[in-house]
Amino acid sequence: MTTAQCNFVNVFFIACAAVLMVTYLYVYNNLITTNIQFKKGNEKVAVAHGPDYDDEKIDMFVEEEQIRRASLLAKYCKSNGSLHANSLKTFYFVVYDKKKIIYCRTGKTGSTTTSRLLYNLENGVNLNAGAMKTSDSLSKPRLLNSYTEEEIALRLSTYFTLLVTRNPIERLASAWMSRFLSNPHLRYNEQYRSMLQTISSKESNVVKETKGDNMTKQIPFLAFVRAATDNKKKWENRHWIPVSDACSPCKVPYDFIAHTETLADDLRLFLRKVGVTNRDHILPRTKQRAAAENLPNIYGFIPMEDVKRVIRKFKSDFEMFGYSYEEKFLEILKT
Ligand SMILES: *[C@@H]1O[C@H](CO)[C@@H](O)[C@H](O)[C@H]1NC(C)=O
Ligand SMILES: *[C@@H]1O[C@H](CO)[C@@H](O)[C@H](O)[C@H]1NC(C)=O
Repeated sequence: MTTAQCNFVNVFFIACAAVLMVTYLYVYNNLITTNIQFKKGNEKVAVAHGPDYDDEKIDMFVEEEQIRRASLLAKYCKSNGSLHANSLKTFYFVVYDKKKIIYCRTGKTGSTTTSRLLYNLENGVNLNAGAMKTSDSLSKPRLLNSYTEEEIALRLSTYFTLLVTRNPIERLASAWMSRFLSNPHLRYNEQYRSMLQTISSKESNVVKETKGDNMTKQIPFLAFVRAATDNKKKWENRHWIPVSDACSPCKVPYDFIAHTETLADDLRLFLRKVGVTNRDHILPRTKQRAAAENLPNIYGFIPMEDVKRVIRKFKSDFEMFGYSYEEKFLEILKT
């Protein structure tokens, strides 16, 4: 080997090592920080999740966050409560009589994870996701609408009440991805075919055929957004109904407000709050949220006026739970 070749080989290895190092640091940082996005007042929690990971510190910050969320909601309801005077949609509420817990369950907020935790808690078991799926009858919990009015009132005033909410922009994207883009066996593209009425023939040029078992037209995100932000009953669904609408947060005195974005940390504190101290093994882990990463791809192709429809329809969700749409859209634009 000549000296020149040898030098080249050396330089090559050094360059390789540098690339590996940078890649490692990049991946490492991303694993630690980007899968946990904490907004407003939550930065502390993200820091506590860093290299000097500290459960106790996280719990403390999560506790502070509960106080912030509760006071934000109280403030909102004081000035806007009259907007939310409609009667309770009791079929959204799941009741756990042994543990005396009521959970307002809406879709695409982490409800599978939360339901599994509550089921395991209520029954003193530790079923994993697969086992929950196969034991269908086991996982069908009792809903608040199956009780008498008296029993409902008693439960609402004495049980520990839990609500889980999520940034509506991300939640809508998640709902469309999981119901219309994938999982054709759920037949959402068929069931909600009428959503296509919301777009013109020119706009429907973008409609693709899905490869579902039944070759139905795929409802494009634009049509979905228009239907989901409409007020028609036929297009209402628990996966995209505003949480402010399903859970009556100005009527039900919630004891705990969890966010999908911080669900794993929130549920750990929730367990303490309901007096459970030795069952941390049933807690979920922090999960990556697929919709969060795909927001630019999904919202990038719909007109601004439709984005504004989302903001209008979910205005209460943004305000009462302290989510910022400006921030979310800046995030989308940046990528
Ligand atoms: C396809 O759709 C038709 C009409 O909606 C229905 O009768 C049929 O059972 C479906 N087939 C499959 C395989 O889902
Ligand atoms: C709630 O009240 C505030 C202050 O009156 C107002 O600015 C805001 O638009 C209201 N929110 C909704 C969702 O109407």
